[in-house]
Amino acid sequence: MSKILILYYSQSGQLEEIVKNFAKPFEDSDNNTVTYANIEPVTEYDFPWKGYDFFDCFPESVNKIPCEIKPLDLGDEDFDLIVFAYTVWYMAPSIPSNSFLLSDQAKRIFKNKPVITLLGIRNMWIIAQEYVKERIAELGGNLIGNIVLQDRAENISGIVSISYFLFTGKKDRFLGIFPKPGISQKEIDGTEEFGKIVKNELVSNQIEGLQKKLLEQKAVKVNPYLLSVEKTAGKRMFKLWANFILKKGGPGDHTRKARVNTFRWYFPFAILLIAPLEYIFFLIFAVFRIKHIRDDKSYYSDIKLKSN
Ligand SMILES: Cc1cc2nc3c(=O)[nH]c(=O)nc-3n(C[C@H](O)[C@H](O)[C@H](O)COP(=O)(O)O)c2cc1C
Repeated sequence: MSKILILYYSQSGQLEEIVKNFAKPFEDSDNNTVTYANIEPVTEYDFPWKGYDFFDCFPESVNKIPCEIKPLDLGDEDFDLIVFAYTVWYMAPSIPSNSFLLSDQAKRIFKNKPVITLLGIRNMWIIAQEYVKERIAELGGNLIGNIVLQDRAENISGIVSISYFLFTGKKDRFLGIFPKPGISQKEIDGTEEFGKIVKNELVSNQIEGLQKKLLEQKAVKVNPYLLSVEKTAGKRMFKLWANFILKKGGPGDHTRKARVNTFRWYFPFAILLIAPLEYIFFLIFAVFRIKHIRDDKSYYSDIKLKSN
């Protein structure tokens, strides 16, 4: 009998649907129990988002500053597998998910346990996952697999679609012309197949080879151009902006309003101007960086940590 714990935080229900599909093979078997633990912030983040709130959570997301969350009702239960399902906010794990990773409860739950990360995001997740890998290692957990579901829309039109979705909660085509926002229903339903792979590897005690099996089924796709955007935007520009806003105060503090609003103007400018420029540079230099790009693709598809 294996006990599976699935931790998640989902606003629109998209990640929750992914999690439930992933868990089906475990639910269908008498040899497993599945416990769902929904991470809940004490002060909820409204969904659909209001414009200002969406940008006000930027500095805390980037600088990994936790919010208060409700303790999970898990008693002293000892689990055989932890699935940590999360979404990404500003190239970092969403504030509620990260708050759990930083909690005392996480220290008890993750210690010496095999962990699988399951992401339901738009298209930029790599820096967030590097941080999560580090955090899981610090908690004493053993990352054995990673599955990433993402939007298939092209970067710029996809941003328009996801903004429409996040600000209205609607999943139809904006103006009837933009791509449907979010992860395709086919891929969401297909998560069940990943659940089957994990279950089979667990039953046959083959967890060391799990990520290889998942990759054969395309559980992770690394886009080298988006990775280069993450490295410039997420690691450098986002940090500068986050620190600039935080100097004025914490979440909701009216003294930082002017800086949050300036960032609100900068953000679409960066997407519309800097991201295409980055693309041109990426294409020009790609031929000189083929080995580097290949190494990056292989490293970020895997579950190893560079420092280990
Ligand atoms: C404030 C905020 C920032 C986001 N930033 C990113 C991001 O940097 N990269 C990404 O791939 N998706 C990003 N997303 C999309 C989410 O990862 C996720 O796909 C979406 O919010 C739906 O998740 P849900 O299941 O919680 O509704 C962001 C969403 C929000 C609300």
